[in-house]
Amino acid sequence: MRGPVSDHYNRPDLLAQVERALGAAGKSPETVTSEDLAPIEEFHMGARAATIALMPGLKLDETMRALDVGCGTGGVARYAAERYGCKVDGVDLTGSFIEAGKTITSWLKLTSKVTLHRESALHTPFKDETFDAAWMFHVAMNIEDKRSLFAEVFRVLKPGARFLVYDVMRGEDAETPLTFPVPWASDASTSFVRPAERYEEHLEAAGFAIEKAQPRHDIADRFFEAMEARAGQPKSPMSLALVMGETAKEKAANLKKNYQAGLIVPTAILCRKPE
Ligand SMILES: C[S@@+](CC[C@H](N)C(=O)[O-])C[C@H]1O[C@@H](n2cnc3c(N)ncnc32)[C@H](O)[C@@H]1O
Repeated sequence: MRGPVSDHYNRPDLLAQVERALGAAGKSPETVTSEDLAPIEEFHMGARAATIALMPGLKLDETMRALDVGCGTGGVARYAAERYGCKVDGVDLTGSFIEAGKTITSWLKLTSKVTLHRESALHTPFKDETFDAAWMFHVAMNIEDKRSLFAEVFRVLKPGARFLVYDVMRGEDAETPLTFPVPWASDASTSFVRPAERYEEHLEAAGFAIEKAQPRHDIADRFFEAMEARAGQPKSPMSLALVMGETAKEKAANLKKNYQAGLIVPTAILCRKPE
């Protein structure tokens, strides 16, 4: 399953680094909470605040089994399990994310609710009509074949299930090339950022009915304001820089630059598999 995308994300020492950061923050695996870990586990624009704002659209509850497509270390999956009581399966290509995520799930005593799998989102191991809901946060920027991706998600959802996509999509300037590296790609070879209209076309071709599509400038603006406010302060040990690696600063700066130039915008699309 190794390839240029998982190589971009892979951090073989991620768990050791998380353990060191916990110690520096005065926490241990016994005392840590999902909130403590949120700054390193919500690898998308807006971080935990975006998750809190977007998840209500899925109408999750404790009877449901949900799928987190491209779950990373599983921060959103664990948030959903804790907040809504649902069971969640997460799939992700990157081995060190899944391994770290499994350990963190056991620290938070969520192993009966959250199961993480090292699998491609394009070929998941689940039977048809397994899940009551699904989400995908900041993943398809790495996947060129969005039509096959959405067909796979459609296959594993039950009729009536909702699917929430929250990705970085092209902004009002859809032509100018992006500046790299960005958090999801070191260069253009693994970056497939597309306008919301292309997503909608592929989702509809897979069979989904679109309920709402919305660029989330509000989430992005607050995210960059908070980033700026942190810039002059002492560095927190619990930071996404752990996950983004050596070029974290450059990736974050280019994310902001591309956003401010109107080349990208985080966009949420809520859709549903018809009954
Ligand atoms: C920017 S991270 C987002 C992680 C998580 N969704 C979050 O919001 O915290 C993108 C993730 O997508 C995963 N990914 C990219 N392409 C994938 C694919 N074809 N199948 C499964 N996971 C994929 C990467 O391994 C990475 O963990």
